[in-house]
Amino acid sequence: MSVSAGLPARGDNRPLRIGIAGLGTVGLGVVKLIGENADILRLHCPRAIEVVAVSARDRKKDRGVDVSRFAWCEDPLSLPDHPEVDVVAEMIGGSEGVAKALVEKAIAKGKHVVTANKALLAHHGTALALAAEKAGVALAYEAAVAGGIPIIKAMREGLAANRIEQVYGILNGTCNYILTQMRETGREFADVLAEAQKLGYAEADPSFDVDGIDAAHKLSILTSVAFGCQIDFSGVRISGIRNVSAMDIAYADELGYRIKLLGIARVTTHGVEQRVHACMVPVAAVIAKVDGVYNAVVTNGNYVGQNVAIGRGAGERPTASAVVSDLMDIARDRILPAFSAPADQLKKLPAAPAGSHVGPYYLRLMVVDRPGVIADIAAAMRDESVSMEAMIQRARAPGEAVPVVLTTHDTTEAAIDRVVARLKRLDSILEPPHVLPIELLS
Ligand code: HSE
Repeated sequence: MSVSAGLPARGDNRPLRIGIAGLGTVGLGVVKLIGENADILRLHCPRAIEVVAVSARDRKKDRGVDVSRFAWCEDPLSLPDHPEVDVVAEMIGGSEGVAKALVEKAIAKGKHVVTANKALLAHHGTALALAAEKAGVALAYEAAVAGGIPIIKAMREGLAANRIEQVYGILNGTCNYILTQMRETGREFADVLAEAQKLGYAEADPSFDVDGIDAAHKLSILTSVAFGCQIDFSGVRISGIRNVSAMDIAYADELGYRIKLLGIARVTTHGVEQRVHACMVPVAAVIAKVDGVYNAVVTNGNYVGQNVAIGRGAGERPTASAVVSDLMDIARDRILPAFSAPADQLKKLPAAPAGSHVGPYYLRLMVVDRPGVIADIAAAMRDESVSMEAMIQRARAPGEAVPVVLTTHDTTEAAIDRVVARLKRLDSILEPPHVLPIELLS
């Protein structure tokens, strides 16, 4: 791919000049890193990297960092017009609005783009990559997926010789922190979430995180890089962690599992399966041991086998590390197609139909302990050809609500949905069944 577009030619050692839109956590982290690690950057890069212009909402705000030495652009959309800006670093966020307009304009003006914006890429990544490649500029986004983990570089470069068969990971630190706290303290979701919000680990509006949307944005990008296909965010089946209860976490322990919010992408005979959901993974699986705010991404390549990357998925310093590594690649004139294959060669792969996932499941039913209840449950499973693997029921006083926990052998999600629909109609079952897929990962 040629890199011209009015930019310094290969071998040019003029500084690479950056315009940063958005001086929140990430934007300021980038300013700090470029200043504090200038010697490292200079050693590793043929060209200096300099911030020359910034744009943010409030010019007067005390940010604890002197930004007065940079040109100030009231309107972020004027950054690509700035004659000294070679690269626009979009650190605003959001899938539409200013962020999208800014990235589109920067590309149209022949400026490289570095972004941390997973929502923008999940919704418009393929179109933006096409535009960037046509314009001969970079669309770089290491910080958008799993923060400081250099997983995009690993997949596009170190693992590039492999056919990737599966990619999955812990892609949201907030959820991983909450689930870890729930397991370690035995407390319920709402309680742990409230505390995480007080400590600043969870947003005041936590829905993007706890409902799985943030992880789904990241998964849709990983899927494209892994399988060389167009991004299909609408093909991700998404659920979050609000319904995970302390009781399920305790049963997971008893059964030899951990509950994790995973994003999982696989190519199946039915199409590409992309799922974000809480699920049970064996305690021995590498990913089961990734706790707290950490993220992890696991890839399975046909030559390399399993590869695991673990690190911090959010925060000023890890995210800045990823953004600046993208800037360094541009300064080194190392510009690759955004999603591993040239954008016009990304395949449009069909999404696996809803219900086609095959695997074992965990079900927890709150039942009235009276004659015939287990027979009714077993009949629903028999009628839908779902085979039970194990069952736990502890004694309680007759008439009391009691948990019945079942695990199944491999079955389809559609069959489990039909079993659940039947169980909901039984008056001996007191709550909607709690269902979690079991992922037999290693
Ligand atoms: N809110 C995300 C998380 C980080 O908790 O992992 C940014 O995507």
